[in-house]
Amino acid sequence: MQLHALRLLILALMAAPGAAPPEKACVVSESAIASELGAGMFDCGGNALDAAVATALLLAVTHPTAGNVGGGGFMVVCLPDGSATTFDFRETAPLASSPGMFLDGNGNYDADRHHSSILSVGVPGSVAGLHLAHSRLGKLPWRDLVAPAVEVASKGFRVTKGLAASLKEVLPQMRKYPASMAQFARSGEPLREGDLLVQADLARTLERIRDEGAKGFYQGETAELIVKEMERQGGIIRHEDLKRYQAVERRPVQGTYRGFEVISMGPPSSGGIALIEMLNLLESHDVGSLGVRSVAESHILAECMRRAFADRARLLGDPDRVDVPIAKLISREHAANLQKTISLKKASKSSPESFEWPREGSETTHLSVVDRGGMAVALTTTLEMSYGSRIVVPGAGFLLNNEMGDFNPREGLTTEGGLIGTRPNRVEPGKRMLSSMTPTLVTRNGKPVLVVGSPGGRTIINTVLEVIVGKIDHRLSIQAAIDAPRFHHQWLPDRILAEPNCFSSEVQGALESIGHKIETAKELQGSVMAIEIRADGSTEAGVDRRRPDGGAASR
Ligand code: GLY
Repeated sequence: MQLHALRLLILALMAAPGAAPPEKACVVSESAIASELGAGMFDCGGNALDAAVATALLLAVTHPTAGNVGGGGFMVVCLPDGSATTFDFRETAPLASSPGMFLDGNGNYDADRHHSSILSVGVPGSVAGLHLAHSRLGKLPWRDLVAPAVEVASKGFRVTKGLAASLKEVLPQMRKYPASMAQFARSGEPLREGDLLVQADLARTLERIRDEGAKGFYQGETAELIVKEMERQGGIIRHEDLKRYQAVERRPVQGTYRGFEVISMGPPSSGGIALIEMLNLLESHDVGSLGVRSVAESHILAECMRRAFADRARLLGDPDRVDVPIAKLISREHAANLQKTISLKKASKSSPESFEWPREGSETTHLSVVDRGGMAVALTTTLEMSYGSRIVVPGAGFLLNNEMGDFNPREGLTTEGGLIGTRPNRVEPGKRMLSSMTPTLVTRNGKPVLVVGSPGGRTIINTVLEVIVGKIDHRLSIQAAIDAPRFHHQWLPDRILAEPNCFSSEVQGALESIGHKIETAKELQGSVMAIEIRADGSTEAGVDRRRPDGGAASR
């Protein structure tokens, strides 16, 4: 028998049984209101997919920072029979877009045009994606999933602490958009905690989505209102873009880590590939014997991050346009080759090639769901920056994304400062921009044991890695794994970006002495919403305390 086959046989014989089906159905998201009403789908006989879709639509109402109908996202689903699938509803570049669209008349890159203008808006994917996932795997009628969002938008809800804080921060950038101000301010001041937020135009858009499905967004009145605003502001999304938009069901990317299966999102997200690449590298190290954020653990994690992010920049893009070597990147052979370049005593230097990273927002939002039948859903959705483009479509009441900012700014433009000009992720009409969203399921023998994901732009991938390592290697509770301090390395710029107090001064000094540069991040990293399913079927939701509005609901 071949050595490889023998190893597989031994692993199969040694394999621990998978978890029992969850004792409780559970939803966890960045909005406690959305989690509670989304979990109401279970009371009506709905499954995890129904609850996930209802919660995502509710987040468009109660968590407008990132919840949306005008953005996009990714969903990873594990079915009770152990099979898994994913839904890609990433935004696309409008048909009139071009690689040079973010350059000014003199050929200079214009960051505002790229990130904060009507040209930064990609063709939204969320409604198509949620509708497609429901049509494949939902149990309840579509209208029942949209109804709670309509209700909360039309009757209103009390502004929560986190929402009030984010509105205060974003309002200066909303002032030039009257419809945005009308929705989120009163007499020019941001809504405050406890104020009632009624969104009548959004309620009517949601009613059209409820009654007509995806057509209620991509055609008819909603489409008219989007195109009218585009024409008014000099934007380029037209009816043809909206009509052509298609969400796609794709195969997940899968790996294994210390006897667990890891199921995540493939391109156009870079999340799954980078995560599995890093886990493959880590598996040869006895991470569990190293302390959480010790010198040795942090060094090896940073070296894995550096390498996965280098591959991300060079090779990843929309799989419908670019030949992404997925199998190679997540293979053990690739990890073995990279492993040879890692020293346990010294930080590597990121390659002298200079790449310019597109600026990326730290917003986005993640929700995790399990039902009692054993279906699990990890769903991450985004407008890109906090409140996306900050443009509310007049008369339609929803925010447009600024996801075009996730494309590389200009082909060939690479600087020390961090702009990336690699080809796979350059703008092309109809193309999906590269993402970092990493909705992930960890299973054992086909049964879900962990549902996890986070916002945070490129930091998402490392946040998810750190939580998985916290759970599997350090054997922390899910809450402790979420609470543990985080850091991020993305190859270039060549530095560790760490949460304040991530490292003790001794650890920081030791990491610097072996060549790492460490910078303290201005904000906390990510907001993980996760569910652990233990072998006996008991479930525990982990809610990230870095942000105040999150919450879990179980039935
Ligand atoms: N805009 C965040 C992401 O796609 O990863």
